[in-house]
Amino acid sequence: MGNVHVLDHPLIQHKLTHIRDKNTGTKEFRELVDEVAMLMAFEITRNLPLQETTIDTPVMEAKAKILAGKKIGLIPILRAGLGMVDGVLKLIPAAKVGHVGLYRDPETLKPVEYYIKLPSDIEERELIVIDPMLATGGSANDAIASLKKRGAKNIRLMCLIAAPEGVEVIKEAHPDVDIYLAAMDEKLDDHAYIVPGLGDAGDRLFGTK
Ligand code: PRP
Ligand code: URA
Repeated sequence: MGNVHVLDHPLIQHKLTHIRDKNTGTKEFRELVDEVAMLMAFEITRNLPLQETTIDTPVMEAKAKILAGKKIGLIPILRAGLGMVDGVLKLIPAAKVGHVGLYRDPETLKPVEYYIKLPSDIEERELIVIDPMLATGGSANDAIASLKKRGAKNIRLMCLIAAPEGVEVIKEAHPDVDIYLAAMDEKLDDHAYIVPGLGDAGDRLFGTK
């Protein structure tokens, strides 16, 4: 069963509070999302496998640990997921990045896929699907299903804020997917916005309305 990890590190929580604040403007919002994504990446990669190598320090030959060459793929869901990519790449600079374009139809609230471009070897990669908001779960559910249809096997989902409804959808549809959150909020409102949430993540990141 996929696990839900709420990353309650004080730095993440402090920055998330400023992200949520409606008085935080676009520039600062973007910077904070980038920083939180980097901090979350630190936690999410905690169990990456290591292997032993031998190096020469200035003092002597020594055995030391390096990453075991696990291939990572970052899959931001357009467009708001883009705001978290650079932060993760600061810690995993060699990761390949694929994109899934989805928007939520404002009438039906169902996701509509309009773009997909992935690394050719996604079946060999440890994929991290990235989206700041997990609301009804429709977008992440579709994105993950789309990746699996194309051969993806190892998928984690990384979001800033989730509603319990969205988490349940992913746990039900994709029990193999671990979910990493900075916060689990109370609920969805009548427009399927997360409460208390942070508003529209894409609009706040890109200064649109
Ligand atoms: C937002 C958000 C998620 C989705 C979450 O994107 O970034 O992708 O809504 O909602 P769900 O869990 O109910 O599917 P939006 O559709 O507003 O598109 P945008 O990123 O282009 O702003
Ligand atoms: N998408 C957002 O950007 N915010 C929400 O609260 C829900 C979906």
